[in-house]
Amino acid sequence: MSGSVLERLTLARIAPVVEITDARRGVELAQTLAAAGLPVAEVTLRTPAALEAIRAIAAEVPGFLVGAGTLLTPAQIDDAVEAGVHFGVSPGFTPALSDAATAVGLPFVPGAVTSTEILAAAERGHTHLKFFPAEPSGGSAAVAAFAAPFASLGIRFMPTGGVRPSNLDAYLALPTVFAIGGTWIAPRDQITEGRFDEIGAAARTAVATVAA
Ligand code: 3PG
Repeated sequence: MSGSVLERLTLARIAPVVEITDARRGVELAQTLAAAGLPVAEVTLRTPAALEAIRAIAAEVPGFLVGAGTLLTPAQIDDAVEAGVHFGVSPGFTPALSDAATAVGLPFVPGAVTSTEILAAAERGHTHLKFFPAEPSGGSAAVAAFAAPFASLGIRFMPTGGVRPSNLDAYLALPTVFAIGGTWIAPRDQITEGRFDEIGAAARTAVATVAA
């Protein structure tokens, strides 16, 4: 992935994973996260409004890093890029997804939770990988165990899936973790119902945890 996007993701350290059912709510969400000091989100393509939300956020919230998540097909990568997305995330890795992202110059974080998957992604030049689903796949202990074998390849992880305030510190402590993803900051119901005070509070708490 490109240096600047990678650096901005690494700087944010937390990537809220969000499901948006209304593009206007997406803009409010991005503004809330930015105001809380967390100007990044992975908008999952699990709702009909997701691409419209990405388009609106990219156009209307300057400085906000908007990614597309749950990328499962090359066509979805093309759609996300057309909507103006800054980076892409997939729960898994396939050569076709990797090629599609490379073809359009999209910074791409594929998923991997086994040595074989990590090597397959590394063969295509990916060093920054989503470790998904993190908790069912062994959690922070599993991420830590991958550090030594893959150090020479520069592999780093974005654990996502089951991360909560209660286990966040364990992931933040790992040198190979460049960012951490999750829905706990902005749950779907809170976004849909416009409960941005709660989302802002959770984002500020996450930012404070990272800074501590
Ligand atoms: C994802 O798509 O990354 C997951 O839904 C995030 O998992 P979480 O809800 O456990 O944070």
